[in-house]
Amino acid sequence: MVASQDGILVGLAMALIKWPVVLPLAASVLYILFKNAPAAPESVQNFFKDFNVGGHRGSPLRQPENTMASMDQAKAEGADLIEFDVALTKDGVAVILHDDTLDRTTNLTGPIRQYLHKDLTSVNCAAKFTPLAINGPSTPVTNASMPTLEEIVIWAKKNNMKMLFDVKDSDAILVDQLNKLFDQYKLHADGIVCSFFPIVIYRIKKLCPQILTGLTWRRWFYSHTDLESRIPRFSGPAHYLAVALDVLNVWGIKSWLPGFLGADMVLTERSEISQVFIDQQRAYDRRVCAWTVNDLNELNWMRQTLNIPVLTDKPFLIEQIGKPIKA
Ligand SMILES: *[C@@H]1O[C@H](CO)[C@@H](O)[C@H](O)[C@H]1NC(C)=O
Ligand SMILES: *[C@@H]1O[C@H](CO)[C@@H](O)[C@H](O)[C@H]1NC(C)=O
Repeated sequence: MVASQDGILVGLAMALIKWPVVLPLAASVLYILFKNAPAAPESVQNFFKDFNVGGHRGSPLRQPENTMASMDQAKAEGADLIEFDVALTKDGVAVILHDDTLDRTTNLTGPIRQYLHKDLTSVNCAAKFTPLAINGPSTPVTNASMPTLEEIVIWAKKNNMKMLFDVKDSDAILVDQLNKLFDQYKLHADGIVCSFFPIVIYRIKKLCPQILTGLTWRRWFYSHTDLESRIPRFSGPAHYLAVALDVLNVWGIKSWLPGFLGADMVLTERSEISQVFIDQQRAYDRRVCAWTVNDLNELNWMRQTLNIPVLTDKPFLIEQIGKPIKA
């Protein structure tokens, strides 16, 4: 068995050396065979027509992130979309939480995947919240439950807010649930499903090509845990493998990956935004959205000059942002 597998590998290697065209040819065939279709251009256009500024986890400097209070706050401040993070409990209930664990934001500890949903009924998602020093007129809540995905969806529908689902768990169960929610609540014109994990986008599009999707990225995501790329996720050889994966990932994002997945948007970390990148994506009918933009000058550049939608921790800056210069 092992010997014959080795034989196949050696044969493949020899073929590659003899006919170097095999690899790109095989890749092209696989690409064409397995490629997903993007959503219809009209639905992409419709969605982005009135998506300008989204509240990143709501309005997380004035109310605890990813809570109903934070979503209310983002709406009051003029956001036209709410972004939130979707995770799964042990018993497969989709809830709203950013981290893999409960430690940073709540008064419980440990991975969310170790809790049954019924054990989260009295969790306080406001437990660790410190409001912005120069706080606005609003009083932050001190007790906030963890919303379920369905509660957020119902709220957004009622309040006429668009939704950006940031999917943190690549479990097929979650993809299935999202697809069902889109059907049940008719979310196709109001929601976009985004993830760092290409498999999530791929699975969603396979289930339903009409669900809008976005591939999320930042440059050193697989190798580093932090935005500044200072804290490695792994040590030793695993770190260098992750770095190699990151290089491949960024190359993929700028060339074949979004098209292959059928992504309608690339949700791009703010420091990677340029006119060139936006134009390249637009050439393929794909949109670019920037995360997470908190500086007023940068917000103005992206909204007025580049005319792209943004996610911000500070929806309260919206009233100070100018209108796009070109239509
Ligand atoms: C906080 O809210 C939870 C449910 O959302 C409730 O069970 C609990 O009693 C509340 N605690 C306080 C101190 O208000
Ligand atoms: C978390 O906080 C809520 C609300 O204050 C409280 O009802 C609950 O008992 C707390 N849970 C733990 C484990 O401290």
